[in-house]
Amino acid sequence: MRLATVGKGGSGKTTIAGTLTRILAEGGNKVLAIDGDPNPNLALTLGIDRDSANNIKAVPPSLMTLKKDAEGNVMKLPDGTSQLQMTMSPDELIKGFAAKAPSDIQLMMIGAPPDGSAGSGCMCASHRAVRGMITEMTNYGSHTVTDMEAGLEHLKRGTVRNVDMMLIVAEPYYRSLEAASRVWSLVGELEVPLVYVVANKVRNDADRQAIDEYCEKHGMPILGYVPSEDKFVEAERRAMSPFDFAPDCPGTKAIREMAGKISKMKIPAMA
Ligand SMILES: Nc1ncnc2c1ncn2[C@@H]1O[C@H](COP(=O)(O)OP(=O)(O)OP(=O)(O)O)[C@@H](O)[C@H]1O
Ligand SMILES: [Mg+2]
Repeated sequence: MRLATVGKGGSGKTTIAGTLTRILAEGGNKVLAIDGDPNPNLALTLGIDRDSANNIKAVPPSLMTLKKDAEGNVMKLPDGTSQLQMTMSPDELIKGFAAKAPSDIQLMMIGAPPDGSAGSGCMCASHRAVRGMITEMTNYGSHTVTDMEAGLEHLKRGTVRNVDMMLIVAEPYYRSLEAASRVWSLVGELEVPLVYVVANKVRNDADRQAIDEYCEKHGMPILGYVPSEDKFVEAERRAMSPFDFAPDCPGTKAIREMAGKISKMKIPAMA
């Protein structure tokens, strides 16, 4: 299954993506984690130590090039977007750029801009590279989990169109839910087969009810509810992975429950 976490800034995308990756890798499954955020921080959440995390090389977007036909014209997909090709095989990419995380997890950072400073220059190449890479790396292992940057830009550009499941991480307050429903509308245009809301930082029944009501009104299915978890906050303070710091806390258990549901799901064919 190719998964991606999307949603409003700070909603918990990286926490959910990293913890889900660790759980999906249990039992020896090979999982590829992709950090698609120009300001990457999935490494720590996966359990890679601080020094190693700071030394991971981002995959240069220049490794993805536009695919051209014999006449030199850029080839297009049926939806009008440009076709891409990788200049390295998936194995070479993993060897050259992936960082080893605990279990059989490899992490690749492919959202960072070429010069390593977020916000500089045009991000088109990075978005294109992330999109191409996710497509090309599909056959790696049992799952790929991509952690996307906040906001709608990458959805408008179709960066994560080639995934099987999109998890929209939302917090139980109005602006976060509004952001989730905008994501929901955009994802509809990308024809992602499985799209769910993950309700995160749920403090009580009132929070849960607010999310339930909003999602029902907008026709958005909910995959699971992750409680507001002090252990996650503490893990963050210690620059540790929530999974290693508190493998049995209610927050981790809730993500484990979602992983169980995901593992049983079949990908419906798109029309
Ligand atoms: N269930 C939770 N309970 C309490 N705190 C949480 C929970 N999930 C995430 N957090 C905390 O919320 C903050 C933001 O989480 P995270 O970095 O995962 O969000 P994000 O959506 O990836 O953010 P960004 O948009 O900046 O990439 C972190 O301090 C994290 O520890
Ligand atoms: Mg994040």
